[in-house]
This record gives sequence, C-alpha cells and structure tokens, in this order.
Amino acid sequence: MSSWISDSTLPWHSILMLRILKCGRIPKHIAFIMDGNRRFAQKSNIEKIEGHSKGFDKLSEVLQWCLEIGVEEVTVYAFSIENFKRSKEEVDGLMDLTREKFNRLLEEKEKMKKHGLRVRVIGNKSLLSNDLAKLAAEAELMTRDNNQSLLNVAFSYTSQDEIANACNIAVQGLIDGRLENDDIDVPFMSKCLYTQDSPFPEIIIRTSGETRLSDFLLWQGCASYLHFTGVLWPELTVTDFLWAIFKYQRVAEEIDVLQKKLLSRDLTSPRQEKFIENVEAERWSTLERTLAAGD
Ligand code: FPP
Ligand code: MG
Repeated sequence: MSSWISDSTLPWHSILMLRILKCGRIPKHIAFIMDGNRRFAQKSNIEKIEGHSKGFDKLSEVLQWCLEIGVEEVTVYAFSIENFKRSKEEVDGLMDLTREKFNRLLEEKEKMKKHGLRVRVIGNKSLLSNDLAKLAAEAELMTRDNNQSLLNVAFSYTSQDEIANACNIAVQGLIDGRLENDDIDVPFMSKCLYTQDSPFPEIIIRTSGETRLSDFLLWQGCASYLHFTGVLWPELTVTDFLWAIFKYQRVAEEIDVLQKKLLSRDLTSPRQEKFIENVEAERWSTLERTLAAGD
C-alpha cells in the first residue's frame, strides 16, 4: 500500500529541470483538482475504485515533487459535496479507500514528522460518518506540531459551503456581541474560511481537460494562475508538473502583486484578532472532542 509521500527516485533530467526551476519563484501554495480517475480506469480496463486508488498513488508522487521543489502548502480536492450524489457503490468505495489511507497515515507518524508535514482536512465534516470524522481528527491532531509544510485535504468540500460556514461563524460573533458590523470585512472573512490563515494558492492545477473550478477555492483562488492540462490525474508526470511551474513563473510577478498588495489580508482591529484566535482554538477543541466521542 503506498505511502502518503512517495520515495521514488526521479530521473536525472527531472532533477535537473527541478533545480533550474528552483532558481525562479516557487509558489508557496499549489492547489490541485485531481480529475480523471474514472476515465483512467475505463481506459485501463480496471474498476472505478482502482482508478481512484491510482489517483491516491499519484497524490503521493505529487507531494514528493512539491516538497522537493519547496512548495510549503498543497491543497487537493479529494471529495466534493457533489460527489455524494454518485452511485452508492462508488461513494462507499471512496470512503473505504479514504479510511484505508488515513489509517496508513496514522502509521506514518515518523515519516510525516521527518518531512514536517501537517495534514488538515477541510470541508463539511458533519456530512462524514463518525469513524471517518474521527480518523481525520486523529490525523490532524497527530501532525499538529509539524510546521514545515501543510497538506489540506478538501473532503466533503465545496467553496460555497465553506463561504456559508464562514458567514455563520461571523453571524454568531455579531449575535453574541463579540463582533461589530464594521468587523465584517474581506480580510476578516478570509480568516473565517476553512483555510484560515493560509496564503492563497498562487496556482490551481486541474487535470483531465475540464476547464472549470467546480466550486473549489473560489474565494482563495481569486487571483490564482489557473493551469489546465489534458492529462488524466493518475497519468500526470513530473514533467507536466514542472511545466505548470514554468508557466506560472512567467506571470509570477503579477500574481504576487495581486495577492500581496491588492489583496491585503491583515486584520485591522484587536476585536477581530481576538475573535479569530478563538475560532482557531475552538477548531482544535472540536477535533479533540471528535476524537474522544464514542461511536
Ligand atoms: C475525480 O476524478 C476524483 C475524485 C472524485 C476522487 C479523488 C480521490 C483521490 C485521488 C483519492 C484521494 C484520497 C485521499 C484520502 C486524499 P473523477 O472520479 O471525476 O473521474 P472522471 O472525471 O474521469 O469521471
Ligand atoms: Mg471528474
């Protein structure tokens, strides 16, 4: 069963390309829409779920590439709220695959620590089964102190749901008097999202030829460079990945200006800061409660 971070040896020409690109600007945060697993399965004459499993193997390679080139944060769209509408067989299969992978993650504590990789599950966890929510909480708590890089697994996620959830957090603050109307501004709302304090992704990569965002990081992706490639996710190569970085580097300066100067995310009032600190603390307490709860 494959590890979360691949240890495969890259061919010398990929290492060379990687080193050359490393001299240019490296994005802090890359997001992936991992699309095309079922088409890959059909093409390869394997079961759909096998296609998703190959998709996970690709994720572990992609993580290795990202860590090697120095990307600090990766967000992957693993399961959208819309995906619950797929056949029961496929949804159950994906949930079982995810259980298996999170159990594997729990066995990889030392490896995750060695790479300093923290895992965060972002999405509407109330839609998950108790055991899966617990596994996700355990993985998040286990990797909590790893602070070199961050993997966000968007699971039971849509951007609209995330924004609605952020609004609910803010409304609660208004109702109980911890916030005032003026506190609800764009930097504040950014910090109420599941991605909290994360930098916005400089690049969003979608595989399989679809040129849509499918309700993924709509807020955070407001200035991202969008890279669409026709290859199916399980077939993505290190060259495809490096090509996306190369294309980004040609517009990196503009993206940087947009993200840093135009989209300031600094909070302006101590009241906002205190509130956001509480949201963060509450998030960890919820994870601890989820882990401690009976089934
Ligand atoms: C989209 O391809 C892919 C998914 C809905 C699932 C992605 C999940 C993985 C790669 C496994 C990751 C698991 C963990 C635990 C992180 P598709 O099914 O839409 O394929 P199609 O576009 O060819 O129909
Ligand atoms: Mg698809």
